[in-house]
Amino acid sequence: MEEPFVTFETGGTKTQKRKIPLGILVSGNGSNLQSLIDRIEDGTLDAEIRIVISNNPEAYALERCRKHNIRTAVVDHRDFQTREAFDRRMIEILADSKVELVAMAGFMRVLTPVFFKAFPMKIMNIHPALLPSFPGIHAQKKAADYGVRFSGCTVHFADEGMDTGPIIIQAVVPVYDDDNGESLAERILKEEHRIYPQAIQYYAEGKIDVIGRKVRIQGIPRSPEKPLYNPPLMNQFALGPG
Ligand code: GRF
Repeated sequence: MEEPFVTFETGGTKTQKRKIPLGILVSGNGSNLQSLIDRIEDGTLDAEIRIVISNNPEAYALERCRKHNIRTAVVDHRDFQTREAFDRRMIEILADSKVELVAMAGFMRVLTPVFFKAFPMKIMNIHPALLPSFPGIHAQKKAADYGVRFSGCTVHFADEGMDTGPIIIQAVVPVYDDDNGESLAERILKEEHRIYPQAIQYYAEGKIDVIGRKVRIQGIPRSPEKPLYNPPLMNQFALGPG
């Protein structure tokens, strides 16, 4: 029978690790960028940051790059008449820098189909919620205000929708009654800094296949089948029936 989905095999050979040439898009603080820099420097992430592009000339992420001797480019969206022209300029820079994988790390602009065509299934994004819940901006505040008991973060391939692409990895954190957007954001951010480097390392090791909208990570153990409860189960409820 014919395979109904497009299958992408990403990364390198299955046995050989290689340094993935990365391009990173930022707009602000760049703590996720920092987590990638740190993992590369301590040898756990097989990647090489070829260029960091910021649409915001004031982004602190640029300062982080200076400290680590990482090449940067400012592409200020206000200098372009259309979103497409802005995207084309970024594509040019990424291509000149021989980037293979693009990682959005707190990049606050919406990309157009022009960009997705240039890097099909080669753009990752990190989002501070358990997608498909709470896409878009202010995700942490929306989750806290809604009263969900768990939230978290998601690394996914970006596609033309708003935070809709195939999901690579998620981390879950509890949400407490007295949380607000800031306290929850802080809890989630710690996990962002763990899962983003991990997602890129899976890619570097050639472990990621994308089948339709599902991602399969090859050769890793299953997560334990352990449910989470928030609030916790008490007494007999925790022990189970019987
Ligand atoms: C993170 O919460 C990320 O998930 C979201 O924007 C924030 C960026 O933080 N897309 P930083 O610039 O990486 O510190």
